[in-house]
Amino acid sequence: MIKDTETKEIQNETERQRSFIELARALTQQKMQTIGRPLTYCLTTFGCQMNEKQSEAVAGIMDEIGYVRQDSEEADVVIYNTCTVRENANLKVYGRLGHLHSLKDQNPDMKIVLFGCMMQEPQVVEKIKKTYSFVNLVFGTHNIFKFAELFYDMLLSDMQIVDIWEGTDQIVEDLPTERNYTFKSGVNIMFGCNNFCSYCIVPYVRGRERSRKPEAIVKEVERLVADGVSEVMLLGQNVNSYGKTLENPVTFAQLLTMLEEVEGLKRIRFMTSHPKDLSDELIEVMAKSKKICHHLHLPLQSGSSRVLKEMNRRYDKEKYLNLVEKIRTAIPDISLTTDIIVGFPGETEEDFQETLDVVKKAGYDTAFTFIYSKRTGTPAAAKEDQVPADVTKERFNRLLALVQEQGRIRSSRFAGTVQEVLVEEESKEKGIFTGRTQYNLLVHFPADESLLGTYVNVKLEECKGFYYLGSLAD
Ligand code: SAH
Ligand code: SF4
Ligand code: F3S
Repeated sequence: MIKDTETKEIQNETERQRSFIELARALTQQKMQTIGRPLTYCLTTFGCQMNEKQSEAVAGIMDEIGYVRQDSEEADVVIYNTCTVRENANLKVYGRLGHLHSLKDQNPDMKIVLFGCMMQEPQVVEKIKKTYSFVNLVFGTHNIFKFAELFYDMLLSDMQIVDIWEGTDQIVEDLPTERNYTFKSGVNIMFGCNNFCSYCIVPYVRGRERSRKPEAIVKEVERLVADGVSEVMLLGQNVNSYGKTLENPVTFAQLLTMLEEVEGLKRIRFMTSHPKDLSDELIEVMAKSKKICHHLHLPLQSGSSRVLKEMNRRYDKEKYLNLVEKIRTAIPDISLTTDIIVGFPGETEEDFQETLDVVKKAGYDTAFTFIYSKRTGTPAAAKEDQVPADVTKERFNRLLALVQEQGRIRSSRFAGTVQEVLVEEESKEKGIFTGRTQYNLLVHFPADESLLGTYVNVKLEECKGFYYLGSLAD
């Protein structure tokens, strides 16, 4: 159990931040009266669902301070929540900063805020200090809970404020948050990562693994459900190792069992599952559950046991395929998705053939394929046998073609069936709505707004590869 003094400290921190919200709010009200219009902000999120979730927290605070959110970057405050998992995520941010600079020339009062994973890299912060001095506030991943305080400081300062923490063991609960959807929500169950896969920068920018206490998670989910949410996505870099570092250890499967009890909750999803830690207990709980969706995201990264060893993934091809078989035996209708990296240093054609072989055998519904990106500071970046770009690209295209073909074959199993779908949003085409089956399969069908956020039965009529066209079956 967390000690009483620690609990008190965390409560104090929440109160402290709430007082900064009030201070910033007073300043903002004053400013709005002076200029005679609402103040606006634009918030863009790069990267994964963890970032999405943390952006919701920042948006919640901006809303409380009194700023109005808008899509255009011609706003009083522009905020980027950044990602650095691959180099192109980085380049996107630098590209857009150039554009923001010209907007700021037109509106010198405009404030620019950068936070998130990319800011945890020292060379990035150096570059921002040197080349992008017009950025007003920079913070990282460990002190997002301090956003209200940092924002208030920024309002009072003409200097660039940079506050990067190297790590934290603090988890501050109960700050305001603005949800992207009313009926579904991400829920962080843990932060950080201890796995140090040799290509990956996440452990360096997100710090050590920390789990939230199960009671706090259950309480958050109960609150979400009371607020209209029926589907939750539990988030962590490796949910299968949830709870190991708690003073009273709890397994991920036990957490799922507790959440199953939450009345009114209809669907439970989670990501990401590291194959090395996926337990029999989890498979059993999933097979029995009425709420856990039959979808598992099980990143492969490579099918070659030699490469997997170099990647420090701590499973091999055989163990991965055995795991898939075990899961399919216990949950025959499971939908499997994965992540694959092509062109890891030293990857040979034979290694790549092993990846293609696993893709054929595992039968993925969808696979996210990535070209290996060298991340400074990771062990793989120091390897000398980097694969030439043209070789990687050619392999990537072959993999993509196979993945798409397999995906089509897998999705066709649903043709003509009626599936329960959560209606999520109107598509670009008016009157056509988009929803998801428990298998995470997208379906487009004619409906109306009153059905948003509800579960309907949809007949899946035409398979379009990744998604279906269908019609209401009720
Ligand atoms: N914790 C998750 C992955 C989070 S990052 C897991 O272990 O499965 C999401 C995906 O980005 C990874 O699964 C991997 O496929 C990809 N990725 C991470 N680092 C990368 C790199 N340096 N180059 C290319 N892809 C990378
Ligand atoms: Fe990166 Fe590996 Fe951690 Fe996933 S498990 S975040 S790939 S280090
Ligand atoms: Fe990117 Fe950070 Fe997520 S590096 S993928 S936003 S954990």
